[in-house]
Amino acid sequence: MQIPSHIEQTIRRQCQNGSTFNAYIYDTSPLIKRIKYLNQIMPQGVEVFYAMKANPHPAFLDAAQKAGATGIEIASLGEAKKAVDAGFLPSQLIYTGPGKSPEELAWCVDNRIRTIHIESLAEAHRIQNLCDAANQTQDVLLRINANFDIHDAQTTFSGGSKKFGIDEEQLDIALPQILALDKLRFRGLHVYAASGVLNVDDLLHNCKLVFDLTKRIEAQYHNIVCDIIDFGGGFGIDYEETGHNFDPQAYASGLGDMIRQYGFENRQFVLELGRWLAAECGWFCTEIIDIKTSRSKKQVICAGGINHFRRPAALSINHPMAIVNLGRTKLFENQESIHQEKVYFGGPLCTSADKLANDVWIEEAHIGDIAVFGLAGAYGLTMSNTGFLSHALPKEIVVTNTE
Ligand SMILES: Cc1ncc(COP(=O)(O)O)c(C=O)c1O
Repeated sequence: MQIPSHIEQTIRRQCQNGSTFNAYIYDTSPLIKRIKYLNQIMPQGVEVFYAMKANPHPAFLDAAQKAGATGIEIASLGEAKKAVDAGFLPSQLIYTGPGKSPEELAWCVDNRIRTIHIESLAEAHRIQNLCDAANQTQDVLLRINANFDIHDAQTTFSGGSKKFGIDEEQLDIALPQILALDKLRFRGLHVYAASGVLNVDDLLHNCKLVFDLTKRIEAQYHNIVCDIIDFGGGFGIDYEETGHNFDPQAYASGLGDMIRQYGFENRQFVLELGRWLAAECGWFCTEIIDIKTSRSKKQVICAGGINHFRRPAALSINHPMAIVNLGRTKLFENQESIHQEKVYFGGPLCTSADKLANDVWIEEAHIGDIAVFGLAGAYGLTMSNTGFLSHALPKEIVVTNTE
């Protein structure tokens, strides 16, 4: 991995004061570029929302707004408040996720957010009761756990027994009950298949199945139109640097063709994207505290582990990485270092699960150097075990490239 020069300069500058360096460095320009690009190439009617679960840092929300995201996909009241603090209107918020509490739903109804995506009958009834009490209506989408999935995706959200949405097979029972709730304005469907999909054809195939499902539902219930169809997120990132990148242009043209083929030109389509927008905006940078050999393999121990960057361990992958050599004074003459070898990187936690990377080829590294993990802008700090062992949180440093 090549560390961009402004990121490396920031690391070197920050390390001058001598205290242990452990930080995320963010540059949100890829997110801005990508949202603008998608807004240009997507077919008429497709709206890009930022799924802030990928990175809720205010700089990311600010960037999403500047770039022209239609709004924010939220998954909690905490996210709703952060989005509003960043300047988004409640009418720009869409709320998906199982287990929304009564308080969370009440805030959404009171603030008239754009759509709540119903995950169960109990949730539908809670929203109806809140709306009844406030004498208002609420726009809703129905999240369906379709009976298809994308097999080779990193994480799947539909198919099989899932906690997300209502099973497609139960629609005959559930949908009439939901439609009978007079305070809910049924606007359409949410079917989110999978996260981390690199193959455009897989995602397009999912869109086709969702369109077929839409047609079946509309044929059966003549009084409803699904005028919003939400595909969730899913655009993948090539973490393992195989050269297979997600092709948004191919997705846009494929989706455009499909919209025309199904005669769906007058509908709205929602993309709730997190990873593909945010991953390239972040680097996790952590100081090498120790290097030692254990039974012929080098163990590199860093200041931060899965308490600060859990993704590689959680998904059993190595993120792209590089070392910033700082040439620091040795602690003792025979101190161990790394020279052209495959090594293990871990953090300071008392569990062997605390892995940052394994069998990764390193040219040269010494105690005091900085290990830099790329593509760390999405699902980084906030998906980590930050409370475990009570280490201080890493800094979050926002930079812009002025070159
Ligand atoms: C409901 C929902 N929407 C959007 C996303 C964002 O997905 P991605 O980061 O794959 O774009 C997620 C991720 O889990 C999600 O659960």
